This record gives sequence, C-alpha cells and structure tokens, in this order.
Amino acid sequence: MSMRDFPKLELHLHLEGAAPPAFIRGLAREKSVDISGVFGADGGYAFRDFGHFLQVYEAATSVLTTPEDYARLVTAVLEESAANGVIYSEVFLSPDFCGGSDVAAWREYLHAMQEAAARAEARDGIVLRGVVTCIRHFGPERARAPALCAAETAGAFITGFGIAGDETAGRPRDFTWSFDLAREAGLRLTAHAGEWGGPVSVREAIADLGVERIGHGVRAAEDPRLVDQLAETGVVLEVCPGSNVALGLYPSWQRHPIQTLRERGVRVTVSTDDPPFFRTSMVREYEELARAFGWEAGDFLEIARNALDAAFCDADTKGRLA
Ligand code: HPA
Ligand code: ZN
Repeated sequence: MSMRDFPKLELHLHLEGAAPPAFIRGLAREKSVDISGVFGADGGYAFRDFGHFLQVYEAATSVLTTPEDYARLVTAVLEESAANGVIYSEVFLSPDFCGGSDVAAWREYLHAMQEAAARAEARDGIVLRGVVTCIRHFGPERARAPALCAAETAGAFITGFGIAGDETAGRPRDFTWSFDLAREAGLRLTAHAGEWGGPVSVREAIADLGVERIGHGVRAAEDPRLVDQLAETGVVLEVCPGSNVALGLYPSWQRHPIQTLRERGVRVTVSTDDPPFFRTSMVREYEELARAFGWEAGDFLEIARNALDAAFCDADTKGRLA
C-alpha cells in the first residue's frame, strides 16, 4: 500500500494557509494587486520566522475578497486533499477574512463554501466540516464577532470554534466570552497552544477555555505531569509535525516528540496546518513519520481512529467514514 492510499482524516488545516501559491498569484493578477513580497525566488511562499509567516499569510489572504473567491479556494484545497488520500477534513475558517466578521456577509461566504464542498464531496467523496476561528493577536474584543458568526451558523457544517494566530499574544482567559458563547451554541472547542507557548499555555487553554482538543500541544512533552493529564483526560492533540520542523520548533523529524507523546498514552492525530507554506502534504507527513519512527500500517490506522473519534462531525457522518 502506498502512503497515498491510507485513508486520512485531517483535523488541523487553515483554509487560506492551504491555498496553492499559483492560486493566490492568479487571483492577484486578476485583481491587479501587487503581493510580490509574499513569494520567494522559487515561486513558493517565503517568510523568515513565525511572526513574518503570519504577515505573509495575511498579505496572501488579502486577495481573497468575495464569496466566489472562497468557493474557488475550497475547490482547489479539497482537490489537493483528496489527491493525498484525505477522506475527511476539518478546516479553520476565519470570519475576520470573510466579510470582516459581519454575520450577514459571513452567511454569504459560508453558503458559497458549502456549495463548493458539496460539489467536492459528490466528485471525490471527501467530507468537509468547518471550525470557525478567532485570531489571537487581533485581541479579545475583536474575537467576539467571529464567535457570534460561529454561534449564528452552528450546525451540521460549522461544528467547532477555535483560536489561531500568535500564541504569545494575551492569555487564554482573555477569550472566555467568545468560547462560552460558542459552547452554549453547541460548538465543540479547540485552541492553538503549546507551539510557541510552553506547557502553561496548554494547561490554561484546557482550564480556562474548556477545549477538548489542542492545536499542536507538542510542547506539553516538556512537562511529564501535563503529559499524564492529557493521557488520563483524553484531550486530543492536533499534531502538525512538518509545520513544527519547518518553523524550527524541532531540528529534525527524528527529534519531534510525537512518538514519545504516543508512547506515554496521549491521543495524537496528524495534520499539515498550512501545507504549501511549510512545503508539506498529508502524504509527505506520512512518509516522514514512517522514515523517522518506522511507522507502519497499524500506526497510521491508530492515528486515523484517533482522528475519527475526535472529529467534531455528527455520529451519522462518522458512521459513513468508518
Ligand atoms: N498557526 C497559528 N495561526 C495560524 C496559522 C498557524 O499555522 N495559520 C494561520 N493562522
Ligand atoms: Zn494551525
């Protein structure tokens, strides 16, 4: 069986961060916008470090200005995911970038994205669900509007709420208003933590926001008591090893803590985060994990089961995927 053929479920993917560079370049050309600073000599996205990554990400995203643009983006992203053997994808959607977190505008973007997702599902069988995110470095006040958008559109497609952006900005408890609103609307919760912040950041996301999954969370490995807590409570980590290596969190795949976390009983999953930015794909993640840790079919099956268990979709959808 080739790596492509393993059925994969991806739980941590930023929609704009999955945009192929050629797609963004094409839109910029259509709209006569100059975003040449976004790209390097090889035509791919170029950035120096995580702070610069966030700037380049927002600059690339600036060419996406209409519901139709986002529908085309969903089509391009799901085509690529399906080609990597992904059968289920949970994607972070940011109302801040889709009509400035105005609820009426957000509904139009969402409608266009859902239509594109339905076409992709009919063609390739891939199932998409959306996790609305607020953006941490925009601050807690600005996080209220995306939470309202999420609460207003919670349902079979918008199944979760989360927080992305610069983890070093503010504290999780600053965002409780937004997370409480999302929880009351029936949404499942996740937060980026334990990537640029250490174990404390993970502890606080769990204690103060009540999340059941952590985006990244890998720095929990630095605190044995926290590792035990994660294993005992079943909090699931959305691990993105290629992203962590590309951003220099770990010097190599071999030094990535995903295998240690697994061995200590933590439920881990594997995702790509922002694949073209980090020169990765789900197939590449699987290949590198096989090379670094000797993972085989049984290991990948366990990862897929963890993801199916932890997915925010309803039981009927899980039944179709199982
Ligand atoms: N991490 C945090 N915030 C983000 C990312 C990411 O990889 N992509 C877009 N926003
Ligand atoms: Zn992320």
